[in-house]
Amino acid sequence: MSEQKETALVTGASSGIGRETALKLAQKGFAVIAAARRKERLVELADQVEGITPVQVDLSQPEETEKFCGYLSELPTPVSVLVNNAGYSVRGALEDVSIGTVKRLFEVNLFALIRITQACLPAMRSQRKGIIVNLSSIVGKFTFPNSGVYAASKHALEAITDAMRLELEPLGIKVVTIRPGPIDTEFNDAATKMTGDLMARTDPDYKPIYQTAGEYTGKLFADLHIPGPDLIANLILEAVLSETPKLVYSAGPINDEFLGNRGRLDDEGFHQFMQEKFGLKDLKV
Ligand SMILES: NC(=O)c1ccc[n+]([C@@H]2O[C@H](COP(=O)([O-])OP(=O)(O)OC[C@H]3O[C@@H](n4cnc5c(N)ncnc54)[C@H](OP(=O)(O)O)[C@@H]3O)[C@@H](O)[C@H]2O)c1
Repeated sequence: MSEQKETALVTGASSGIGRETALKLAQKGFAVIAAARRKERLVELADQVEGITPVQVDLSQPEETEKFCGYLSELPTPVSVLVNNAGYSVRGALEDVSIGTVKRLFEVNLFALIRITQACLPAMRSQRKGIIVNLSSIVGKFTFPNSGVYAASKHALEAITDAMRLELEPLGIKVVTIRPGPIDTEFNDAATKMTGDLMARTDPDYKPIYQTAGEYTGKLFADLHIPGPDLIANLILEAVLSETPKLVYSAGPINDEFLGNRGRLDDEGFHQFMQEKFGLKDLKV
């Protein structure tokens, strides 16, 4: 690395994958901007290792994101490593997710990512250098039942990432997709909080569907070892440090089975596989 530290931005650095990634990048000598809402967490993170600057921003608020983008545009050493990691999920059949909830989720998982990327690109272009790492999910390529809105945000992220990769390679900017499976972070607790009491508010029609899919999900996860965020942070680091990173990094305990089947099976076949996996094949309500 050159004398001048390169600047890396990690969104969602207050917990999980983002926190581990920020730590590892700082340990490798990057000047890391660690962004999220929970300032005290970011300050605690900055105390762990030299080179981390905590920045509080609520990415669900477009004006806050824009202000943050203004700050990014004026950095003396602009961002050359952008890790778009902040994100969350909500659960529920489509009828049970209000349009306001959908819009908020897209604001954080997609629109903020677009705004921040747009703010970082001019400097990357002028230097003909930089890497953008976008946190998708296995559900960027298919969807679980009762999780369509979150999966839609990750499908959209995948599309934008694929397009950017084609657009930016001629300008010397690398674009990487990270596709984690289930990882042990605060992600599930956050989803539970953001979803609220689904069973209390849903129509009785949906209850057997939630119950059955929930039971089968429990079975699916019962014998699995769910890895910690290190697994994914290491892949991000590998991509950032590589001259020739892979286009996509995928890791997690069910990735091979689900992504493998999505690649192998036709639409009918994959639908049946999912129905069977979640006990919905013969369910009639
Ligand atoms: N864990 C998994 O199983 C899994 C699987 C596939 C993909 N992913 C993806 O991996 C990424 C990281 O997730 P994680 O597992 O590390 O979850 P996590 O531990 O819940 O971390 C999520 C991060 O996003 C930040 N965030 C959420 N809402 C925000 C907002 N409005 N403004 C600013 N920051 C916000 C959170 O910070 P604050 O709450 O402090 O704002 C937190 O730092 C996400 O994009 C997620 O979709 C996770």
